[in-house]
Amino acid sequence: MERTNTERFMKNDTLLPLYNKDKPKSNPSNELPTAIPSHARRVYIETYGCQMNVSDSELMAGILTQNGHQTVPHLDDADVVLVNTCAIRENAETKVINRLVQLNHRKRRQPDLIIGVCGCMAQHLRDKLLDAAPYVDLVMGPDAYRDLPVALDSLARGVESHVSLTDRDPFVGLRLDKSEDYADIVPIRKEGIRAWLTIQRGCDKMCTFCIVPFVRGRERSLPLKFLVEDVEKLVDQGFKEVVLLGQTVNSYRDNGADFGDLLYAVGDVNGLERVRFTSPHPADATDSMIDAMASSPSVCKHLHLPLQSGSTEVLERMRRTYTAEAYRNLVSKLRERIPDIAITTDIIVGFCGETDAEFMETYQMMADIRYDSAFMFKYSEREGTLAHKVFPDDVPETVKGERLKQIIELQENISAAINRDTVGDTVAVLIEGESRRDADRYHGKTDGFKTAVFPKANTKIGDVVNVRVDTTTAHTLIGQTI
Ligand code: 5AD
Repeated sequence: MERTNTERFMKNDTLLPLYNKDKPKSNPSNELPTAIPSHARRVYIETYGCQMNVSDSELMAGILTQNGHQTVPHLDDADVVLVNTCAIRENAETKVINRLVQLNHRKRRQPDLIIGVCGCMAQHLRDKLLDAAPYVDLVMGPDAYRDLPVALDSLARGVESHVSLTDRDPFVGLRLDKSEDYADIVPIRKEGIRAWLTIQRGCDKMCTFCIVPFVRGRERSLPLKFLVEDVEKLVDQGFKEVVLLGQTVNSYRDNGADFGDLLYAVGDVNGLERVRFTSPHPADATDSMIDAMASSPSVCKHLHLPLQSGSTEVLERMRRTYTAEAYRNLVSKLRERIPDIAITTDIIVGFCGETDAEFMETYQMMADIRYDSAFMFKYSEREGTLAHKVFPDDVPETVKGERLKQIIELQENISAAINRDTVGDTVAVLIEGESRRDADRYHGKTDGFKTAVFPKANTKIGDVVNVRVDTTTAHTLIGQTI
């Protein structure tokens, strides 16, 4: 039977030292309050957005648990709910606002419920969030999570002294701090096959469409030595795959070491089956990164390489710092060095001023490169970005929709054709779990991050098995173990 999250966390509690005393903080001035809280809270964390947010929620769970609080798997059991949010597109924020309305209904029944909004949307909307949702008790950005225990303590005191909801001051933590890397915090992860490991926080790239540098602050890398130790511990805990996370993960730097050095070092950790990373920036795709991908056996031969647009003019307006031609050359080089590499991407259609001809350059580039898969988005204007300040968001919504539809159709056909070509091949699959549709089957990922489904036979979760592909769809390889 599946473990409940509580059991998972409890297991992790006993598995992991909650405070890594051997590991000095990169920034010793950021002390965690160590006193036992006067009010231990039961906290439910709800996560929206990217893997970095999943990783941040694990960090928040670590900070809270270390300070005597408890994370719980169900909202019904909680006296604090923390919503960890995303601000990348407008619809990500709309989703959270709707969720907050629901939580406010709950608060009417449970007046002591503390509602916290954490992460990128908190940092983005700031006071506007409290205007839109005045019942929110806590607003906290990604660099302020060390203050969570202090915040919960002071809010709990308000609850205790029966200060009415409307009179209670919200706790606001929105400082961005370039020195905050949480290197000393041990995240609390769910048990599983794949662990997320944040190797870098923030972003210095300043793409004109993107809110991330404004909500996550300046770029900073965690020390290589600690990261390798972290990976060793993750292997000891039973994880088979580690995904290195950063906004522009391959601009990683620690003293003289670059991202290629980190890949080699992590790839050498004994017992680790696979290393992946996301998301690299094309302008930082150095030979050292490519060498490590080509020659370190545990580094997966899959690169998620966001293109955004196939038009050099649009890329310039986006300040992506590469041309369409440079990107094409990079893909050629990658395929020369690593012939079986899987390449996936992110595309934005309808960016400010995008003409039909510029859009067609994106379409053509996708047709030429033939990505294994792609995440595709309509441009969503974000207040605070340079694009918002200097370019009108002038591509009509219907045109954005039409363009998106065209590239989705193109990509579906390409993904289906690439997968069809694997019929008869044998692929190595790391088993992740039971297939949702069929209890007699497992699902897992290939090295190139394709989902494979196959009968369980005599295999178990965590094994790497050879699967012969029999049939395929645009998203799945279906076969059997051999
Ligand atoms: N509008 C639409 N898509 C965006 N992305 C980032 N900012 C925006 C925006 N304002 C997309 C990019 C990025 C991915 C994570 O989200 O494609 O690579």
